[in-house]
Amino acid sequence: PRHGTVIAVDGPAAAGKGTLARRLAAALGLPYLDTGLLYRAVGRRVLDVGADPRDATVAEAEARALTAADLERSDLRGPMADMAASAVAAIPAVRAALLDFQRDFGRSRGAVLDGRDIGTVVFPHAQAKLFVTASVEERARRRFLELRGRGVAADPAQVEAEIRDRDAQDANRPVAPLKPAEDAMVLDTTALDAEAAFAAALELVRERVGQAVPERGKPT
Ligand code: CDP
Ligand code: CDP
Repeated sequence: PRHGTVIAVDGPAAAGKGTLARRLAAALGLPYLDTGLLYRAVGRRVLDVGADPRDATVAEAEARALTAADLERSDLRGPMADMAASAVAAIPAVRAALLDFQRDFGRSRGAVLDGRDIGTVVFPHAQAKLFVTASVEERARRRFLELRGRGVAADPAQVEAEIRDRDAQDANRPVAPLKPAEDAMVLDTTALDAEAAFAAALELVRERVGQAVPERGKPT
């Protein structure tokens, strides 16, 4: 792809966005940013100071104080971190504080970014936008297997309930709600493994990115 290509990968929890976005980035030679980590790290910092992740004043201050080291923390995943991330993500001032970092990351050399609002808010003019989804049952199954792989004992019904709650919270917030951009390509991976999802996504992206490149010398 041409210099500065931005690919937006959005979708609900445990749809396989990260897995897919990372592979797309490697295949296309682009940097990759997991934007969920930013919200997770802010949520963690708020929990660390003993505050409620819905506290807008504390959450904004912690978002502004975020450092690269926060993104390396080992405690950014798990039910507590998931819900704290989603709570701080509903606060407009937190989202505003994280916007420039995401835009700067993508602007310089292009990038693949995954999250909830990459195609709608962060990069509304991204060359390619994928909205990756799967049935809630399948997504819960994936997250459950992921947790088990990390040695975390979890109750499948509880994993599914947590995903439903978080998706509802993310989709119903007034600011940057989870929804496909109007020009997003929706990829339902319910019946696809990670390999098949990657192959389908790469084809969609190549079609789109190809079209986005104007032929040299011709008016567009
Ligand atoms: O990996 P998973 O899909 O479970 O979550 P994530 O992408 O790490 O995002 C964690 C939370 O951060 C989400 O539930 C959203 O509330 C929030 N988020 C957001 O609001 N906007 C983004 N661009 C990325 C994440
Ligand atoms: O980033 P997001 O929360 O959307 O998902 P993820 O962290 O990439 O995790 C998805 C999990 O489902 C990983 O364990 C993948 O191996 C698996 N998976 C997938 O990513 N894509 C599929 N089509 C099927 C399974």
